Amino acid sequence: MSTIQTQAVPQYLVGPQAASTALKASATLWFAVAVAGQLLFAWYVAALYGGAVVRGDPARWNSVAPHAHVPGDTAGNAAFGLHMLLAVIITVGGALQLIPQVRRRAPRFHRWNGRIYVLLAAVASVTGLYMVWARGTVGDLSQHIGVSANGVLILLCGAMAVHHARARDVARHRRWALRLFLVVSGVWFFRVGLMFWIFVNQGPAGFDPRAFTGPFLTFLSFAQFLLPLAVLQLYLRARDGGGAAARIAMAAGLTMLTAAMGLGIFAASAIMWLPRL
Ligand code: HEM
Repeated sequence: MSTIQTQAVPQYLVGPQAASTALKASATLWFAVAVAGQLLFAWYVAALYGGAVVRGDPARWNSVAPHAHVPGDTAGNAAFGLHMLLAVIITVGGALQLIPQVRRRAPRFHRWNGRIYVLLAAVASVTGLYMVWARGTVGDLSQHIGVSANGVLILLCGAMAVHHARARDVARHRRWALRLFLVVSGVWFFRVGLMFWIFVNQGPAGFDPRAFTGPFLTFLSFAQFLLPLAVLQLYLRARDGGGAAARIAMAAGLTMLTAAMGLGIFAASAIMWLPRL
């Protein structure tokens, strides 16, 4: 394996050290762009949904999410309100949790923020599942199954991350914590992916925007968590056992995905988030 990799990328072109540095840089760039996009999303959620509560106008929730505020449905409205509050807290908390400097300099904060993150992500997932199956939401059954699988994976990855942290198995804990971060970000990937798709196609393609159904949305409901998890798996393989060629290929692939994600964030901000504030 390493012979093939050495032949593909000669040592005098890219040494193992340079390949590792490139891979690390591509991961750092991905994380920085993702965090910037997620903070923008958290700001939008806080301003739109929190702002409506502060102004005493919860019906404004329905300007985006059609089933958000239903007069008389106290339990459902509370679930939605809690879901929004948690969306803001976990988006900010998740970013803080993965910043290496914070982890190194404030290990106590990392432990507490981690516990709170896992707990709140689980509650966000359960309120989401409640809204999908008991209250009703946009989309068809295939999308409901996709986002529900995402919700169940949040519970599973959270449990695994905590389990390995308690067992002091740092390597496994990190892997599961990264998976948890990606599945918690699943609904964000959905929005960014959808806006990227609409942007490159110059309009809706592969789905009916009024019914909010169609093959592309079914695909995206599963891809929102399966694709990031698959890319993470490839990244970990390249980082932990790959040769120079594998690391360079991964760094190039990740950089391209970061560019696509950046475009999606730009489109989501311009089309969805900023105009609604
Ligand atoms: C844990 C991370 C999650 C975050 C940060 C999050 C965030 C949000 C936000 C911001 C909205 C409001 C819509 C908008 O303005 O874009 C929303 C709505 C909603 N979310 Fe989540 N969500 C998460 C997980 C889930 C999960 C796992 C499910 C399902 C199992 C789910 C189901 C829903 C439903 C049903 C709505 C209402 C949509 C409607 O009826 O219009 N969420 N979520």
